[in-house]
Amino acid sequence: MPLITFEGIDGCGKSTQILMLKDYFEKKGIKCSVFREPGGTKIGEEIRRILLDNADSPMDPKTEFLLFAASRAQLVSQEIKPRIKAGEFVILDRYIDSSVAYQGFGRGLGKKIVTFINEFATDLVYPDLTFYIEIDEKVFEERKREKKDRIESEGIEFIKKVIEGYDQISTASRFVKVDGKMEQDQLFRVIIEKIKENFKV
Ligand code: TYD
Repeated sequence: MPLITFEGIDGCGKSTQILMLKDYFEKKGIKCSVFREPGGTKIGEEIRRILLDNADSPMDPKTEFLLFAASRAQLVSQEIKPRIKAGEFVILDRYIDSSVAYQGFGRGLGKKIVTFINEFATDLVYPDLTFYIEIDEKVFEERKREKKDRIESEGIEFIKKVIEGYDQISTASRFVKVDGKMEQDQLFRVIIEKIKENFKV
C-alpha cells in the first residue's frame, strides 16, 4: 500500500537516503521497490535519455514537462499500481512534486496545469508520505557535479525558482521537511522516526 517519495533539488542527498531506507526495509524482511524518475521502466529510461541529454537543448518547457509526465504515466501503470495493490512499499526518487517545482515554478508553466496533467498521468495516485530534503542554493553550488546534465546546466536563478516551488508546495500534510545539511546518518534517523510513526514498521 504505502508510496513514499523523496524530493529536493539536485545534490540534496536523496539517493543516499533512499539506499539506506531500502536497506532498512530489507533487513526487516519488508518487501520494497525503488524507482527513479524520469525512468524506472524501459520506456521511461528512453525518455530520460532525451530529457537529460545536453544535445537536446533547447527544449520547449511544454515538451519537457509532457515527457516527464509520459515517463510517469508508464511508471505508475506498469510498476507502481500493481505493487501498492499487492501491499508492497514503493519508494520513489522524485515524483509529481518535481514537475511542480521544476516545470511549474522553474520553467514557469504554473502549478495549476502541472498538477492537472500530473493527476491525469498518475490516475490520482498520490504519495502517502513525501520527504522534502531541503538545501539552499549555496549548498547546491558547493555540491554541484563537474559533469552536468541538461537540467543541471541551468543557472542559479532557475534553482532559486525551483526552491521557491518546493517551499510553497511542501506545506501540504503529506510532506516532511528535513534538513539536507545534516550529516547522512543523523538525517536517516530523522527519516526512520517518521517512517515508524506513519507505517508502524
Ligand atoms: P537525476 O540525475 O535523477 O537528478 P537527481 O539525482 O538530482 O535526482 O535527474 C533528474 C533531473 O530531472 C533533475 O535535475 C530534476 C529533473 N526533473 C524535473 O525537472 N522534473 C521532473 O518531473 C523530474 C522527475 C525530474
